[in-house]
Amino acid sequence: MRLLFVNACMRGPEVSRTHALCRAFLEEARKACPGLEVQEHDLTRMNLQPVTAPVLRRKEALCDARRWDDPLLRPAYAFAHADAVLIGAPYWDLSFPAALKVWVENVYVRNLTFRYTPAGEPVGLARGRLAVYISTAGSPVGENDWGAGYMRAVLSLLGIPEFRSVCAEGIDIQGRDVEGILRRAEAEARAVGKAAGEKLR
Ligand SMILES: Cc1cc2nc3c(=O)[nH]c(=O)nc-3n(C[C@H](O)[C@H](O)[C@H](O)COP(=O)(O)O)c2cc1C
Repeated sequence: MRLLFVNACMRGPEVSRTHALCRAFLEEARKACPGLEVQEHDLTRMNLQPVTAPVLRRKEALCDARRWDDPLLRPAYAFAHADAVLIGAPYWDLSFPAALKVWVENVYVRNLTFRYTPAGEPVGLARGRLAVYISTAGSPVGENDWGAGYMRAVLSLLGIPEFRSVCAEGIDIQGRDVEGILRRAEAEARAVGKAAGEKLR
């Protein structure tokens, strides 16, 4: 079983509270599913390129030739073949860091992560059984759930049937019980990790 950890915790593991929640999730998932292989795609270092016209042309040619081994399609290939996906991303500018949107652009690959029906409707091809989105936000997110909500739609379209999200909100507001909020979010991340590991076992 292989879990793909898409790490968009841009401030780095030493300071990122989102990353700390991801680590708690992974610890429990590994305990519940011995032998679980975790593959990390660290978006803080991968320097994925936004899709421009030349990149789009190259991507289309690779799709037509089904050249799934090309380095350009590596993120999509790893995503398509993962049994589960964990995405860790702080709530930035009402959604998430741009690096995660660039990752999404890179994983939309025709005939690898989705295909079109004769009627022109996209159908997901990813084989993952579940996706988990972990985030933290400085303020309450409320109705501006453009991060988790968007990723839920993307992952569902690409074929992953189950989506869970964990978010610690309001952790930059003075006077809030930040430790308590983070402790509760960690407990939730651990519970979701355990359930994910049991599902994958
Ligand atoms: C560039 C940037 C943009 C942010 N935008 C928002 C925002 O739109 N809404 C909000 O509630 N918090 C925002 N924050 C605060 C973060 O969501 C919050 O500090 C989060 O916990 C950071 O996660 P981390 O500790 O994993 O880096 C932003 C922080 C940064 C650095």
